[in-house]
Amino acid sequence: MHSLKQVTSCAVALAVAALSLASSVNASPYNGRLLQARYINDSSLVKDAYDYVIVGGGTSGLTVADRLTEDGKATVLVIENGPLPDSAAVTEVRGGFGAFSSPYFYRIQSAPQPELHNASYPVLVGNAVGGSSAVNAMMTVRGTAEDYDRWGLLYRGGGSGRASPWGWDGLLPYFKKAVAFTEPDPAVRDAVNIAYDASYWGNTSGVFAGWPTFQYPGLVPQIEAFRDIPGVEFPPDSGSGRAGVYWHPSFMDPSKVQRSYARTGHYDGINRTSYDLAYNSKVRKINLEDLKATGVVFQTTVQNATQLITVKANKEVILAAGAVHTPQLLQLSGVGPKKQLDEADIETVVDLPGVGQNFQDHPMLGVTIMLRNFTVHPSPMDLITNRNFSSWAKEMWAKNRTGPYSLGIGNVAAWLGMPVISPERHETIASKLEAQDHAAYLPPDTDPTVIAGYKAQMNALATSIRSTNTAFYSLTLYGSNVPAGSTVFLHPLSRGSVRLNPSTPSTSEPIVDYRTLSNPLDIEILAEFVRFTRAYHFNTSLAAYDPHELLPGSDVTSDADLATYIRRSLSPSEYHPSGTAAMLPRELGGVVDEQLKVVMPTLPGANTCQTVYAIAEKAADLIKADA
Ligand SMILES: *[C@@H]1O[C@H](CO)[C@@H](O)[C@H](O)[C@H]1NC(C)=O
Ligand SMILES: *[C@@H]1O[C@H](CO)[C@@H](O)[C@H](O)[C@H]1NC(C)=O
Ligand SMILES: *[C@@H]1O[C@H](CO)[C@@H](O)[C@H](O)[C@H]1NC(C)=O
Ligand SMILES: *[C@@H]1O[C@H](CO)[C@@H](O)[C@H](O)[C@H]1NC(C)=O
Ligand SMILES: *[C@@H]1O[C@H](CO)[C@@H](O)[C@H](O)[C@H]1NC(C)=O
Ligand SMILES: *[C@@H]1O[C@H](CO)[C@@H](O)[C@H](O)[C@H]1NC(C)=O
Ligand SMILES: *[C@@H]1O[C@H](CO)[C@@H](O)[C@H](O)[C@H]1NC(C)=O
Ligand SMILES: *[C@@H]1O[C@H](CO)[C@@H](O)[C@H](O)[C@H]1NC(C)=O
Ligand SMILES: *[C@@H]1O[C@H](CO)[C@@H](O)[C@H](O)[C@H]1NC(C)=O
Repeated sequence: MHSLKQVTSCAVALAVAALSLASSVNASPYNGRLLQARYINDSSLVKDAYDYVIVGGGTSGLTVADRLTEDGKATVLVIENGPLPDSAAVTEVRGGFGAFSSPYFYRIQSAPQPELHNASYPVLVGNAVGGSSAVNAMMTVRGTAEDYDRWGLLYRGGGSGRASPWGWDGLLPYFKKAVAFTEPDPAVRDAVNIAYDASYWGNTSGVFAGWPTFQYPGLVPQIEAFRDIPGVEFPPDSGSGRAGVYWHPSFMDPSKVQRSYARTGHYDGINRTSYDLAYNSKVRKINLEDLKATGVVFQTTVQNATQLITVKANKEVILAAGAVHTPQLLQLSGVGPKKQLDEADIETVVDLPGVGQNFQDHPMLGVTIMLRNFTVHPSPMDLITNRNFSSWAKEMWAKNRTGPYSLGIGNVAAWLGMPVISPERHETIASKLEAQDHAAYLPPDTDPTVIAGYKAQMNALATSIRSTNTAFYSLTLYGSNVPAGSTVFLHPLSRGSVRLNPSTPSTSEPIVDYRTLSNPLDIEILAEFVRFTRAYHFNTSLAAYDPHELLPGSDVTSDADLATYIRRSLSPSEYHPSGTAAMLPRELGGVVDEQLKVVMPTLPGANTCQTVYAIAEKAADLIKADA
């Protein structure tokens, strides 16, 4: 039996960091060489200056570009490192596993992880026009209201956070703007009791939340079994901002049963002379004059010759390069921790200690329990590994675009808070977290402001551990005889970093260090995940289906044995890197402010893609208001 690794993210563009400028540079007149400038693949087509230069043509970059150009008043250049893929290569649903075989990833390996036997892990972030929205598993989920309120609380240093611009009330209108909801097929809906409430959604975006044309009947008893667990709620919709067990749509265009992503929603079919996109082009540096961003230098290849091109930004340079490459570019441009910049022989323009710190992702832990007399259905992985399943699945797909190949990784999951996961131990864990010497779990040379920010986050998360409405645990259901794949840890306490490689800062990828399990309380929480997942299979109505534990194995029960299993089996990433240019006050190690100038200070307890779209929509409004 396999333990399925979920590939569920918008890994790249975790943030729109708008590095502000209000430049004194005058627009050089549009040279008129290319009236339908769209795909820029020749340096002579690039204008000398644009109002906005956006670094990164991913989930957030394309969303902002579309919004800034829709009234025809501003010019935008988007610069994307990756290629413009053949559309069919990324829009096919294929069980949500496009990511496993996709060529559209950066090839980055993490630093060795000391708490995981020094193993190194892939850092999967999308590298194509559309970014990680082109390669994720299309999970369309939001965090809970508390996840976003926590951003407001951390930034403002107290209060509920709800009233801040980045709290739930401030973001909900942008969740509605960002994605157009469509209803499921009534026959499929009624067969498996799909519940939803369209009032939490909008219907105007070019990015669609649709539903597969097929679901496994086995999902019904697997959902119902959660009713036997005290404290589990069943919110009315995945978008209601509440923890519990719920159905959620997929980023899918229902009319085509195809991936809907930033490129299809915010680039394809848009015909504006004001919106240019240069792909296969890497931004090397942000030009800074008197602490204002005046443009960028990017590298592109034309007829096998590498060229460096300088382009001016009349208004702003907008960083939308994701949690790995946004801090890298800031550091290469002289904005970052001075000590690290010195080591890389880069002149410091702004000593900003938080750049590249506070790195977070969602670790995944396999807990594999088989229901021996449950009907066998293919799990998503079977569509790849088991020829028998894949042939009937392929037939259904070929006939009328239905069956398992219309599914992403799944459309129903449990998102649960610690009081539900661990009624007995969560209070002890929360108290231990508050009592920790937080600095002891960061590298010894960490700047005091970054330590202060970490402490503030840990205190906020201790409160969240006591709340049923911050999901720490998630489990996606497959409806098969192995009901679920990995458990996902939505609010890990460990923090990593992204820093330049000091010997080859501008030619190699940055050093990505997850620092997984560096806060030892993460192991205690993960051990509770294993115990809870067992209880879900053995102490509910699922017990009638003769459960048999394959991983970690029924003899692995003590804290010490569970810790050994966790160190051997944990994956540091669910491909949701974030946090490296945090929206926090500078005295808390922040990088950008509430005026966007923003980045997520802590992860939301959900796959990150929908949040990225919502942030990008809000960013576009803030940038327009600033113009
Ligand atoms: C640029 O793209 C156009 C349109 O796809 C193509 O005709 C042209 O050959 C390309 N030029 C280069 C230098 O690749
Ligand atoms: C991991 O690597 C470090 C540094 O090379 C070494 O000191 C340590 O013993 C290694 N740990 C394990 C578990 O191999
Ligand atoms: C879109 O939403 C609006 C208001 O929420 C509603 O009045 C309208 O009927 C919806 N349109 C469609 C096509 O669902
Ligand atoms: C783009 O718009 C221009 C005029 O605004 C029009 O002439 C041209 O045909 C359009 N191109 C496409 C592909 O729609
Ligand atoms: C680019 O290089 C490739 C491989 O070296 C060669 O086949 C191709 O002709 C070159 N193209 C141009 C435009 O020089
Ligand atoms: C596929 O089906 C054949 C015949 O029913 C069976 O012998 C074989 O074991 C199956 N293969 C797998 C991988 O399930
Ligand atoms: C697709 O075909 C199957 C088998 O003929 C049928 O049961 C199903 O209703 C069809 N689905 C759709 C969405 O047309
Ligand atoms: C299941 O419930 C029993 C009795 O309530 C309890 O002793 C046992 O520990 C539970 N098992 C799990 C895995 O939670
Ligand atoms: C599963 O097996 C158990 C005993 O092996 C039996 O009591 C139960 O009825 C079976 N359930 C189903 C759904 O076949």
